[in-house]
Amino acid sequence: MHLAGTMRINSSGHLEIGGIDTTDLVKKFGTPLWIIDEEGFRQNCRSFSNAFHSLGDSLVAYASKSLCSLAICRIVKEEGLGLDIVSGGELYTAIKAGFPAQKIYFHGNNKSIEELTMAVRYGVGCIVVDNFYELELLNKICGQEGLTQDIMLRITPGVEAHTHEYIQTGQIDSKFGFTLPDGQAMQAVLTAVNTTNLNLIGLHCHIGSQIFEMESFRYSTALMMNFMVEIKEQIGYEMKVLDIGGGFGIFYKTGDEPCDPREWAESVMLTVREKADESGLKVPRVIIEPGRAISGPAGITLYTIGSWKKILGLRKYVSVDGGMADNPRPALYGAEYTCLLANKADQPGIEKVTIAGKCCESGDMLIRDAKLPPAEPGDILAVFATGAYTYAMSGNYNRLPRPAMVLVKQGKADVIVRRETYEDLLRNDLIPE
Ligand code: LLP
Repeated sequence: MHLAGTMRINSSGHLEIGGIDTTDLVKKFGTPLWIIDEEGFRQNCRSFSNAFHSLGDSLVAYASKSLCSLAICRIVKEEGLGLDIVSGGELYTAIKAGFPAQKIYFHGNNKSIEELTMAVRYGVGCIVVDNFYELELLNKICGQEGLTQDIMLRITPGVEAHTHEYIQTGQIDSKFGFTLPDGQAMQAVLTAVNTTNLNLIGLHCHIGSQIFEMESFRYSTALMMNFMVEIKEQIGYEMKVLDIGGGFGIFYKTGDEPCDPREWAESVMLTVREKADESGLKVPRVIIEPGRAISGPAGITLYTIGSWKKILGLRKYVSVDGGMADNPRPALYGAEYTCLLANKADQPGIEKVTIAGKCCESGDMLIRDAKLPPAEPGDILAVFATGAYTYAMSGNYNRLPRPAMVLVKQGKADVIVRRETYEDLLRNDLIPE
């Protein structure tokens, strides 16, 4: 069992989070229920900013794609972090939450004309340009708007981090960024510095997600710094910023061994300093963009156990009232999670069961071979580390309304995303006359 943040087993033998018994949360808000531990979330923000700030000029920009809502953007703002966004929707949420536009970094491989225009008008701090088409388009939009926009270029350094194929992004054969080894990246720099309305402030790369080997980050940082040196030598241009993306791995299951954020900070910051000293380059400001490592461990999902089925000599299935609609990661990536029975959290796990979701699809399995105390209908299942990429990736498959999300802190629980109703499901439906 891996209890993060304020999670603990209380004297009733129940799982508690944010000072509240999870069975009380279920009574009040129902299931499925996403819960975010505010203190845990804030603590995660701080452990990254402290680690990086202690080693030099840096900014932690929270990757809002992992979990984005008005309340979450507000907390990130209060923690003094920057924000990595990837769409007009995330931008709109951030602005409505009062997030300072100057601290927003806009990513994406196919930002639309509308999204770019919106970003420029809001005064977004930096747009991370992904390809030649966007470079030209953004320059044109800024010309029409009469504005100069700070940009970074997204570079694909050719680093293959050890992670699931779908969430690897730094390798050469990727839809993202300007590839470094074939000279595209240098061509992009030359083009960018000659635009009339764009101000190239730095370079960005992101090598993947759920990465444990700090060596991958050290390597990509070194490649990027070497490239900065090459740029200076060729055209005398110095970058102010190096953004090395997100991807810091977290604990989901036995065998996952996340490093201390200080190790990530060291592998990046020391490499930057070393390379700068060697080459006489000014030390750039370093930006990192952790998403999962901030939101993931701070979240749990609560489900109610319903039906079960035993296949003699083979397997026992226990079904819950959610599944791939509120957490598509197991079905999509074969992602693994740990869980416990929140109302029997002090009892030993003696029965091996497979936790099935309720969607009409055989692949809707949340957790295979979980060890639980004997589970009965009405028991509460808590799945850990579900703060990242669950709500953010959720859907209404099978017309399931999305669960509510509750923020808990010191005995107080606030709904930050309302549970969808059947009426919500019909909100955009129309029948032609
Ligand atoms: N920066 C950029 C440019 C990114 O593309 C991403 C994630 C991040 C930062 C944040 O990465 P993190 O620190 O959260 O690993 N849906 C997948 C993860 C996709 C990540 C996409 N980009 C999953 O559920 O595992």
